Amino acid sequence: MAWREEAKKRAVLEAVKHVKDDFVIGLGSGSTAAYVIQEIGKKIRREGLRILGVPTSHQAIMTAVHYGVPLTTLDEHPEPDLAIDGADQVDRELNLIKGGGGALTREKIVASAAKQFVIVADETKLVERLGTNHPVPVEVLPFALPTVLAKMRELGGKPFLREGKGKVGPMVTDNGNFVVDVDFGPIRALKELDLQLKSIPGVIETGLFVGMANVIYLGKPDGVLRIVRK
Ligand code: A5P
Repeated sequence: MAWREEAKKRAVLEAVKHVKDDFVIGLGSGSTAAYVIQEIGKKIRREGLRILGVPTSHQAIMTAVHYGVPLTTLDEHPEPDLAIDGADQVDRELNLIKGGGGALTREKIVASAAKQFVIVADETKLVERLGTNHPVPVEVLPFALPTVLAKMRELGGKPFLREGKGKVGPMVTDNGNFVVDVDFGPIRALKELDLQLKSIPGVIETGLFVGMANVIYLGKPDGVLRIVRK
């Protein structure tokens, strides 16, 4: 699906219109967020903007350094003006599943701190009901893994420990934890499930982003679909 890359880039061009001079911006993770960082770098050079980025992963740090986006931290700027990120699934109520890249915890922290949260993806990410043919990534403290897996099953989920690529054994996040991908099927009560998962001791964070995004830009083969919170 070669059109998807072009569609993502088209949506990114819409999303970076939210970027203004002097903004502190949460920089997301994943392939679409990398395009966002690239475009922010271009804007800085072209328009002389003073922008600082708060990275959500090692990938975001490296991409920002590569494209010349100066970085800061939540310690220095606890309330970014804007955060822009990708997503694995979105619905029309602007709820999201994130964490395909394993960066969900820092992404959620930065998004929750930001005054505005903008999502960019291609239209294949839009679904009627989150969880349809897609698991919910959950970051888990390694020590707690066996009990967390058992409690996820009690909640009706089918948990799978994410394997590393280029390493043996489980994938380890930037925070030193594991990611468990939990298949719940289509999810009816998103907030309730998020709270149930988060109440399991050892769960660090879930990839359910409920009611957080303000705007979603979805690249299509022939344009960009904009979904806005009313
Ligand atoms: C990273 O942990 C994720 O939340 C990403 O935002 C998500 O996986 C989207 O990635 P792509 O833009 O590469 O599809």
